[in-house]
Amino acid sequence: MTSDQTGDVVRVPVALGERSYDILIGSGLLARAGSLIREVLPKAKAAVVTDATVADLHLATLNASLASAGVETSASVIPPGESSKSFPVFEQVVDQVIGGRYERGDAVVALGGGVVGDLSGFVAGVVRRGMRFVQIPTSLLAQVDSSVGGKTGINVSHGKNLVGVFHQPDLVIADTDVLDTLSERHFRAGYAEVAKYGLIDDAGFFTWLEANWQAVFAGGAARTHAIATSCRSKAAIVARDERETGDRALLNLGHTFGHALEAATGYSDKLVHGEAIAIGMVLAHDFSVHMNLMGPDDATRVRRHFEAVGLPTRLDQVPGDLPDADGLLALIAQDKKVVRGTLTFILTHGIGQSFIAKDVPGEAVKGFLAGASERG
Ligand code: GLY
Repeated sequence: MTSDQTGDVVRVPVALGERSYDILIGSGLLARAGSLIREVLPKAKAAVVTDATVADLHLATLNASLASAGVETSASVIPPGESSKSFPVFEQVVDQVIGGRYERGDAVVALGGGVVGDLSGFVAGVVRRGMRFVQIPTSLLAQVDSSVGGKTGINVSHGKNLVGVFHQPDLVIADTDVLDTLSERHFRAGYAEVAKYGLIDDAGFFTWLEANWQAVFAGGAARTHAIATSCRSKAAIVARDERETGDRALLNLGHTFGHALEAATGYSDKLVHGEAIAIGMVLAHDFSVHMNLMGPDDATRVRRHFEAVGLPTRLDQVPGDLPDADGLLALIAQDKKVVRGTLTFILTHGIGQSFIAKDVPGEAVKGFLAGASERG
């Protein structure tokens, strides 16, 4: 996997044969989106999907850029928030895309965070049996994770992301400046996914983050480097396991515990995704110590780094009452990473040394969680 830098733009290729595409990362890219899309999809019209919050901040810039590149466009503006990843909103966007006479060669353009990207990608994946798709992620989490790799979908009453398709974008445009409009809380939550790439298999990146995280928060070259390193790491994993039959599961480090905490807090603003997986990643390291897979020093480093950044690291920081160890285990068992009754976790031998552990005994998880609940 290679990447190159043209002017201030970093290009990270995602190598997937005929479905390969580039992630472009840099300052001021939203204002250039029209011509960047034109280069990749010369004749496509653009069915933009965004949410009301992002529309207020960024839709005018995107529209001006599309107009100056001669790209015909219209926009579907959905309500902000996870509840838009639903059949009714999906149907509404599908109606608008088909009603707008967009064809298979035209592009659905997602301007927003993970919710907009996941919903729009699903629309692009199924309308007319698959339209072109461009991601313009506006949250840190979407720039380093959800906009890359082709997972799309909506939530149903049985759980999150249970209906969807793999549908790779044709282009991802990550404008690092738009992140300045995020609240510090949401930037920090996205940062948990950045740190995850160091913890998975890049100890050097984690060490760099320990020294440079404040510069990443401030913006500029350090932020671009962190996003590009994260995207390069994700691109490499997706290129070798697009459909998550193996290594792609490593991207779920911290997510098994984290999803249980999100479920326990009703997927609400009490605990946003990045905060849940920050606690989840600390627990995954502590659980690895508990299972004698590693010594305690790296687990302490992970906890200290997240504490320094201001991310939650302990169960007693989750607002409201949490279920006991049995209840948390039941939530974990409902998670999609349970294969035929056995628990699959991403565990680790140390920072940058994570691995997929199958057949993890539920009793060991329960004993660990009981101790973790007592410690807080
Ligand atoms: N967010 C995890 C993945 O893309 O596989």
